[in-house]
Amino acid sequence: MEVIVASNYDKMSEIGATIMAASLQTRARPVLGLATGSTPIGTYQALRRMYKKGLVDFSQTRTFNLDEYVGLSPEDPQSYYAFMYDQFFTHINISPSNIHLPPGQMEEDDQACLAYENMIDQAGGIDLQLLGLGGNGHIAFNEPADHFTAKTHLVTLDERTIADNARFFDDPSQVPRQAITMGIGSIMKARHILMLVSGQNKQEALYQMIKGPIRPQLPASILQVHPRVTVVTDQEAASQLFSADG
Ligand code: F6R
Repeated sequence: MEVIVASNYDKMSEIGATIMAASLQTRARPVLGLATGSTPIGTYQALRRMYKKGLVDFSQTRTFNLDEYVGLSPEDPQSYYAFMYDQFFTHINISPSNIHLPPGQMEEDDQACLAYENMIDQAGGIDLQLLGLGGNGHIAFNEPADHFTAKTHLVTLDERTIADNARFFDDPSQVPRQAITMGIGSIMKARHILMLVSGQNKQEALYQMIKGPIRPQLPASILQVHPRVTVVTDQEAASQLFSADG
């Protein structure tokens, strides 16, 4: 696992965007796995700037997002579908037919989850998977549990995730309690994983992910066995990692 410590959030975002732009060159029709949340916003903005300058082209890019809330329609401003269009897709030359998000309106539809998984495989797998890190150590919405779940599935969100994500809603009671998420196996199949980590509230999870044992209670720890992971963190999040007793 390669760990790059950037001096601040903006630098982390620039490095993240550069790595993503480079991955677009690796295949004629590249496949990106994408994340939502606060952490990648600066990276999406940096990619938008690169696109405006003519440095990147998304016309052949296909994307698969990690997760979507259950019960929110794509038109709902709180859906991850809306987030991705607002933050990224509307501003670049990607074709809507190349954009995929998990089927958040399908509730407990195993077939729809399987179809999502199959679509990724049919696209040739993910070249670069962008990840954030949950304060509880989750990746996508694979929450701390007593086992790893391999494939795209329905999940009940952890209390900490609901509390962490309440900042995006007018009222905490509006945060959906369930989501459809790619599984740990879906993520681990990506050829390259790029994780962005920012802020003091991620210190402990980042430390455990890299230095702790591999265990489903800290889902991100599984990345220790992936052959190609690049973690780009800001100094705040990395401080425990490099402290005297870390
Ligand atoms: C989002 C996702 C989540 C977030 C994580 C960190 O699609 O899959 O795992 O990456 O919760 O969220 P932020 O970046 O808001 O701290």
